[in-house]
This record gives sequence, structure tokens and C-alpha cells, in this order.
Amino acid sequence: MTVRIGILGCGRIGRMHAELLSQRVPGAELAGVYDVIPAAARAVAEQFGVAATASVDELITADGIDAVAICTSTESHVDMIVAAAGAGLGVFCEKPIALDLKLVDDALAEVERTGVGLHVGFNRRFDPAHRAVHDAVAGGKIGELHLLRITSRDPAPPPLGYIATSGGLFLDMTIHDFDMARFVTGSEVVEVSAAGAARIDPAIAEAGDIDTAAITLSHADGCLTVIDNSRRAVYGYDQRLEAFGSEGLMASENAPAHGAVRHDAAGTHVPPIANFFLDRYTASFVLQWEAFVGCVAERRPPPVTGSDGRATLVIGLAAKRSFAEHRSVAVSEIDP
Ligand SMILES: NC(=O)c1ccc[n+]([C@@H]2O[C@H](COP(=O)([O-])OP(=O)(O)OC[C@H]3O[C@@H](n4cnc5c(N)ncnc54)[C@H](O)[C@@H]3O)[C@@H](O)[C@H]2O)c1
Repeated sequence: MTVRIGILGCGRIGRMHAELLSQRVPGAELAGVYDVIPAAARAVAEQFGVAATASVDELITADGIDAVAICTSTESHVDMIVAAAGAGLGVFCEKPIALDLKLVDDALAEVERTGVGLHVGFNRRFDPAHRAVHDAVAGGKIGELHLLRITSRDPAPPPLGYIATSGGLFLDMTIHDFDMARFVTGSEVVEVSAAGAARIDPAIAEAGDIDTAAITLSHADGCLTVIDNSRRAVYGYDQRLEAFGSEGLMASENAPAHGAVRHDAAGTHVPPIANFFLDRYTASFVLQWEAFVGCVAERRPPPVTGSDGRATLVIGLAAKRSFAEHRSVAVSEIDP
């Protein structure tokens, strides 16, 4: 079966998903695209030879469509989930589902009522190196897990316009790390302690956000996760995990752009690491699509569920409160 998927939102990530679905994902076909900015939709439609529709409804009711990928700005995700679920389509929604827990619950209630599958786009779970760390922990290879360390630093901040609507660093950026913490440890987060600062650009602080953060998570099984974030690492897109346990350690490192190494009197020089999330995580995005497409074709539940998306939002809201009130916050304070 070919799974036909329409894309809602033709910005940075929507364009990438359009390209992957058109060219890289066996069993998938791009069914059409929509964006509130018609020129954005037209550009992607022309590039990949599909129709740009004039509305969300026109796309989700198109002949033969099986699923949609919601790649619009975060504040529109819930309306799109409700519309797509009402049409009986499989739903792939970029992270985060929403910035407000009540809205997420409304969306999940509609997903439950209609029985459609909802996948939330936490692509890092599908990164081969991070997944190997997950598998080693799950398989007991490092013994009892004591500490997970996550370093997640962007090469450069996004445009200020994006920051203003993103929900802030914890809900926009760290939310990936909250998901990795739950995924790799296999244990729910019970308490959050977050510190943050604006060290890169005063305009980020003026927009009400931070660009640097250190967060500690306590898990139900007693292990700890430590996350550090920056919106600007001058050496590239720095994405590393380290799981430390009673029998040893396993880490996923940054891969250099290629394998050539130069040695001279000043030292040993290796190529830089990837400088963009699309380059670093291409494999994860493709593997994520393969998993989603298989689930739609075989009518199985998708790999990263609405309740995974909800759990990360709860942790993010706890982090925001912890930062604002300079204290540790129990997850149960946010979600009794
Ligand atoms: N998984 C990841 O690593 C990852 C990376 C980047 C972005 N994202 C998520 O993807 C989403 C989009 O991010 P982006 O970087 O592509 O943003 P973007 O601003 O580049 O693109 C968003 C697009 O959505 C369109 N849009 C906004 N509201 C709309 C509506 N109501 N109807 C139709 N179109 C609408 C805009 O016109 C724009 O073209 C965000 O939720 C973001 O958090 C995820």
C-alpha cells in the first residue's frame, strides 16, 4: 500500500518533510500541500509536482489521502489535529502539540473519540546513535542507570519572530530533551529544577526568553537527568547523550562532516560537526517517517503517542515554573 500524506505548513520543517516524503521514504507519497501563505505552498507544490490547496479542508478531504503532517506554527497544531482526526486521517504532528495543557487535552480527546493514530514528531528517538544508547540502557548493558546527561546546543538562535511565538526555550527547544530523558531512562519525570540566562543576544531577553539553560530532572525510579542547552554553539550543532550506570557508560557523540584528519605542528585537526538540524538529523527524520508510514499502512498505533507529547509539555511547564520561581517543581504541581 502507498500511504498518501498531505503537508500543512510549508516553512522550514514542512519543506524538509515534503522533500523526504517525495524522495526518501519507501511506501509514502506526497499528496498535496497547504500554507496560509499561498506563495509558500505554491513553491513547495511546484518543486515536488503536487497540488497546493486553497484551504485545510480541501487538503484533508482530497481523494485518496491517508494522513497529514502538521508542520505549521505551534499555535495552530490543535485546530489541525481536530480537523484531521474528524476526517479520519492518520496524524503526524510536529512538536510540541501545543503550549497549553488544556488545549492538548482537547486535541487528545478528539483523537481518542475518532480512533485515529496521532504521532508526535520527536525525531531524535530515531537517531541511530541516540537509539543505540537507549537500547543499551534498556538491555541492561550499563547496569543500573544512575545519570543521563544531555547536551543540546543549537549553532545559532532562530529568528526573533520565531522566538516570540515559540513558547520559549523550555517548550520549544528543551522539549526534545525532555522527550529523550523519558525515552532513554524509561522512567517518568517527577521533579524539575531549571536555571536559565540570556547570554547571547539581549534581544532574546527583550523578547522575554532565555538562550542558555541547565536543568535537572528527577525520575520516578530514582535516576537523574542533567540537560544543558544553548541557542548558540560556535562550533556547530552539538547533540550528545551520555548514560552512566553501575556497569559503565555509553555515549552518542557528534560525528565530524567527514573522516579526513590533518596533523601538524599545532595539533590534530578534524572536520567540523554538522551546523544545521536538518543535516545532523536527516537519518532520524527518514526513519521516523518509515515508522509512521508502516503504522498507517498496517493500522497500528504510531511510535510516539499523544500522551508522550503531553508528558513533555507537563515537564516543560514545570521547568518554566521552576525557572520563574527559583525552586524545584514537582510534576504533580502542574498535572495533579
Ligand atoms: N522536529 C524538529 O526538530 C523541529 C524543527 C523545527 C521546527 N519544528 C516544529 O515545526 C513547527 C514549524 O516550525 P518551522 O521552523 O517550520 O516554522 P516556520 O515559521 O518556518 O514555518 C511555519 C509555516 O506554517 C505556516 N502557517 C502558520 N500558521 C498556519 C495556519 N494556521 N495554516 C496554514 N499554515 C500556517 C506559516 O505560513 C509558515 O510557512 C513548529 O511547531 C516547530 O516547533 C520541529
